[in-house]
Parts: sequence; structure tokens; C-alpha cells
Amino acid sequence: MKAMVYYGENDIRFEEREKPDLQAPTDAIIRMVKTTICGTDLGIWKGKNPEIRRVAEEKTGSFNGRILGHEGVGIIEQVGSAVKNVKVGDKVIVSCVSRCGTCENCQKQLYAHCRNDGGWILGYMIDGTQAEYVRTPFADTSLYPLPAELNEDVAVLLSDALPTAHEIGVQYGNVQPGDTIAIVGAGPVGMGCLLTAQLYSPSQIIVVDMDENRLAMAKELGATHIINSAKEDPVARIMAITDERGVDCAMEAVGVEATWNVCQQVVKEGGHLANVGVHGKSVNFSLEKLWIKNLTITTGLVNANTTGMLLKTCCSGKLPIEKLATHHFTFDQLEKAYDVFKHAADEKAMKVIVDFA
Ligand SMILES: NC(=O)c1ccc[n+]([C@@H]2O[C@H](COP(=O)([O-])OP(=O)(O)OC[C@H]3O[C@@H](n4cnc5c(N)ncnc54)[C@H](O)[C@@H]3O)[C@@H](O)[C@H]2O)c1
Ligand SMILES: [Zn+2]
Ligand SMILES: [Zn+2]
Repeated sequence: MKAMVYYGENDIRFEEREKPDLQAPTDAIIRMVKTTICGTDLGIWKGKNPEIRRVAEEKTGSFNGRILGHEGVGIIEQVGSAVKNVKVGDKVIVSCVSRCGTCENCQKQLYAHCRNDGGWILGYMIDGTQAEYVRTPFADTSLYPLPAELNEDVAVLLSDALPTAHEIGVQYGNVQPGDTIAIVGAGPVGMGCLLTAQLYSPSQIIVVDMDENRLAMAKELGATHIINSAKEDPVARIMAITDERGVDCAMEAVGVEATWNVCQQVVKEGGHLANVGVHGKSVNFSLEKLWIKNLTITTGLVNANTTGMLLKTCCSGKLPIEKLATHHFTFDQLEKAYDVFKHAADEKAMKVIVDFA
């Protein structure tokens, strides 16, 4: 089968790989129908996650590439003997988080840190969804049957982007009715924050990015203010919008120091700073200014514990997320899809959807 394989910094290859086999009775093999590319995949490509190679070498003594991708929809082709909830032929959403459901952390709904080799492993610690077939561990607890009425482009966003935004941005950020919030980063994850935050009725939503097209889309999807941080100082503007008070909640949805700095400067006393971005480097943390502010600062990997409820919200039409699917490619055009997503600003791209023929 064909797959997009990561070998190291700036080295990904679209090449022929072995089709996966069942390895545990709780596994399923999925024939992919749709997949997509996440900002995290771009980060891996750019070298943010050298642990992929390191962990493989520590465990097995070698590294022969990792198939990327942790999002998608597919049809179950094979299930292990212990799988009860899904069956061959079912069309399912593959969650980016695999969970055993029984370990200490799973019992606390901290699925991101499943202690039985679960958590975010697809396209990271094990082969992922940017391939014709994928092996998904813990099939019963990590796959969601796709309701017939749900648009498949929307379903793909339920693997990761939407639950990440909702859980790590909006829930950890404790968005409340009437709040003023700032979302720094208007990629698919930041847009997911924008859309799911509105389920909690904040009064002002300020979105910061450097990409005019993405900012225009943010406005269309409910931002009350947009700020292009390449053209104006986002901190000064956010303080002006909030009468120099700052925001109740700042969400960092990029993963670089500059955007972290905006967040730590604009969050007001008693507020929440929810870091969503994956950071490849340390940042400056101005504790000398922040210690006094009674802040809650959160970090986290998506648990996908709200995927089921978001799925129902999407089916009800309350989240217009299909607008995020700006580009479609066939699977044999995956390299082109990466190129377009990498140059998202020039290409006016938000989420690129990859369809398997
Ligand atoms: N915590 C989690 O569980 C989790 C899950 C999924 C993704 N992520 C991370 O969330 C982040 C966003 O993901 P995405 O798919 O939306 O990525 P993306 O790359 O599509 O979007 C990032 C956005 O940030 C903007 N940006 C870059 N530098 C900026 C700057 N200095 N100032 C303002 N805007 C800037 C870009 O223009 C882009 O619109 C990534 O770091 C990704 O790895 C985290
Ligand atoms: Zn992702
Ligand atoms: Zn577990």
C-alpha cells in the first residue's frame, strides 16, 4: 500500500509500505476513506518531534520510518477476536487518541495518557492514517461509528481538531457566558476553539493570526474582533479592546514563543491561559509579573473525551465546521496536499481533505 512516511527532520516520503496486520485481539484494521493533514504533522516534518525516532530506537534498536496521520474516516476491514462494539464493514471515525479504557488514567478520563501504550500514538509512536490501511489499537474505545447524516468532511475534523480545541482550549480555558476571550492562531485548531467557544456564549472573541484569509474566515465564523499580528501589535490592540483589562481567557493555538508571549501579556487577573499549541522549544514564562495575577495556566494533549458529544452537536448542525474543509485532494496527490497545507496562507487553505478513491 502507499503511505506518507516520516524519516527525520525535513524528510518525509510518499512510498510503498506493507499493509498492517492485527497485532492484538483488541485491534481493528481500517481501510481509509478520508484523511487529512494536521498542523502537528507539519511540526513533525519540520523536526519538532525527534522523540519519534528516539523512542523507536530505544524500544527496538532501529527506526525504519513512521507513517504519519492521526485523523480520518474509514471502513473496518478486520477486527481482533476481542472487539465487540464495531464490526467489519462499519464506517468509523478514527480518534487521534487510542485508549484501553481500563488503566488508572483512562479511569480518570485522562485518555491522552493511557498507560497501556495508548494516548496519541497514531502517526507518532505507531503507524498512522496517511496510508491506505491503518491498524487501530483498542478499537472498541477509540473508533466512533459514523452517523449516516454526518458530512464526512466534518467527521474528519472530529478525529482531532475539534475535540482538541474544545477540551484543551475552551474547557481548560473555562470559557463562561459573557467572557472576553482571545484565540491566538487561526488554523483549524484555533477555528475549532472559535466555534466551540460559542457553545458557551462569550461576549467578545478576539482572534489573532498573520494570515488575512484565515482572519476573514474567523470573522465569518463568529469572531467579534480580528487582529493581524504581522501588521499591528496584538497586545496593545487586545488591551485597547478590553479597556486595558485584558481577557478572561487566552488560548495559544500555534506553538511558538511569540504567540505564548501574547497570551501571557493579555490574560487578566483571575483569568485562564490555555496552551493548545505543540511547542518544540522552551518559552519565557514571566513569573515575576504573573505570580500575583491568580491565573490558571493549563497545558495538555487532547483526551478525546468530548468527541462523542461534539459528534452529536455536529449532527444537529450547531457547528458549521464544514467551512474549514477548503481543499480536496485524492490520496495519490498527498504530496501536493502537504505542499498546499505548508503554504496555507498563499493557497488560502484551512483544512485539506484527502479522499481515497
Ligand atoms: N494539544 C493538543 O492535543 C494538540 C492537538 C492538535 C494540534 N495541536 C497543535 O495546535 C497548533 C495548531 O494546530 P493547527 O492544525 O491549527 O496548525 P496550523 O499550522 O494550521 O495553524 C497555526 C496558525 O498559526 C498562525 N501563526 C503562526 N505563527 C504566528 C504568529 N507568530 N502570530 C500569530 N499567528 C501565527 C499561522 O498563520 C496559522 O494560521 C499546532 O501547534 C498543533 O501542533 C495540539
Ligand atoms: Zn493533530
Ligand atoms: Zn488506558
